[in-house]
Amino acid sequence: MLLRLVCIAVVLATSDSFNSFPQRNAIETLYRWKQIDYAFPSPQRRRLAIQNGEFNQINVIPLGIERWQDRVFVSTPRWKKGVPATLSSLPVASQEESPLLAPYPSWDWHNADNCTGFTSIYRMSIDDCGVMWVLDSGQVEAFETARQLCPPTLFAISLATDTVVGRFPIPSEYVLQNSLITNLVVDSRDAQCRDLHVYIADAWRFGLIVFRDSDTSFWRFNHYSFYPEPLLSNYTLHGLNYQWSDGLFGMSLGQYQLGDRPLYYHSMSSSLEFVVKTSVIRDPSRVNNAVDEFKLLGDSRGLRGQVSAAAIDRNGVMLFNLISQDSIGCWDTRKEYKLHNLRIVAQNNETLVFPNDLRIDHEVPQLGWIITNRLPMYQFNLINPNEYNYRVMFIDPNAAIEGTVCQPFENDHGYYL
Ligand SMILES: *[C@@H]1O[C@H](CO)[C@@H](O)[C@H](O)[C@H]1NC(C)=O
Ligand SMILES: *[C@@H]1O[C@H](CO)[C@@H](O)[C@H](O)[C@H]1NC(C)=O
Ligand SMILES: *[C@@H]1O[C@H](CO)[C@@H](O)[C@H](O)[C@H]1NC(C)=O
Repeated sequence: MLLRLVCIAVVLATSDSFNSFPQRNAIETLYRWKQIDYAFPSPQRRRLAIQNGEFNQINVIPLGIERWQDRVFVSTPRWKKGVPATLSSLPVASQEESPLLAPYPSWDWHNADNCTGFTSIYRMSIDDCGVMWVLDSGQVEAFETARQLCPPTLFAISLATDTVVGRFPIPSEYVLQNSLITNLVVDSRDAQCRDLHVYIADAWRFGLIVFRDSDTSFWRFNHYSFYPEPLLSNYTLHGLNYQWSDGLFGMSLGQYQLGDRPLYYHSMSSSLEFVVKTSVIRDPSRVNNAVDEFKLLGDSRGLRGQVSAAAIDRNGVMLFNLISQDSIGCWDTRKEYKLHNLRIVAQNNETLVFPNDLRIDHEVPQLGWIITNRLPMYQFNLINPNEYNYRVMFIDPNAAIEGTVCQPFENDHGYYL
């Protein structure tokens, strides 16, 4: 009887704690903006850009984030008219609370009339050799009347020299009608970044596109696990109800062991996490012959369990953005994907409203980087320019998970490893 009571108590405590407030806040805000502004060459150029409609501040929203050494990189997609630059850098240490975005690598890349420059950048992923892989959707005004000006394109930028060293348009046979190519993760495995691949998510046509650097070829997997779930496509956030049917979105790479490495992934409008071996998706001969290789992990995260981005640190701990709960969650990838092994490590209904991108950097020790951007409010023109709407935040993964079930090592309860 006593044993049974203890079991019930444990079940109650664990099922409750995934949704409960964390004990400590290991997350901090580096920068915050009411509205985004850029470092224009001169005040006159800024005024001119406002006059001719090239710069309309209320339409600028930060989306993707990456960090390399003393800089963070932020993308600002051209979703509405008036976004003068689509990729920028910021110092990691600035005295300012709301610093100006410096177009990266220079203004020239943001106003080319042809597809040699940038069109609308969504997200970035930096490899182990200091090359930033950048996903450009090629499409402008997606929230107004979308125009596809250029093919979706992968760019490679050397962060040592600040030069674009590669431009790889995704071949049209892998881009379907209404594809929305939104996210990427680079898989580099040694200090020379040989045998490098990039995995790219098509959220609206439910595909996983693979890029192989050695011969610059692409291929594409389709799979039913890349689809959204109907009930998870109905969102309510801070009283705002909206429907998004986004498929494959978040991807994170597990540890490299014995020549293989898992890719964890999920649809955005979903409560489920899946995994596939990268040895499978790196093999183009498996494109029509791998349906059983994409596997469901454990439990559903529940009705408000939608996740945008996720990333895994060197310890094998995944951090993920819970977009309907103003929260960051954690999971130790060595454990089963069960609710009692998931925790919320940060939650805030003001600073963490729609955590959108999340990356873990290459430093020692590592930090996680998060952009929160109130995207649903932006979509419905409800951004209040008098409030802080956009934040660059960082989190120490070790501090965040300390004493929680996400900590990889045996704890006082003694039930890990
Ligand atoms: C595209 O634009 C760049 C920079 O403005 C220019 O150098 C290049 O010649 C143009 N290419 C074409 C094909 O028009
Ligand atoms: C969608 O969510 C709203 C708000 O919670 C709810 O009223 C509505 O019934 C939901 N629709 C479906 C089909 O579940
Ligand atoms: C945020 O949470 C606090 C504390 O729980 C609460 O008092 C406040 O009303 C909440 N604000 C919003 C916008 O939900």
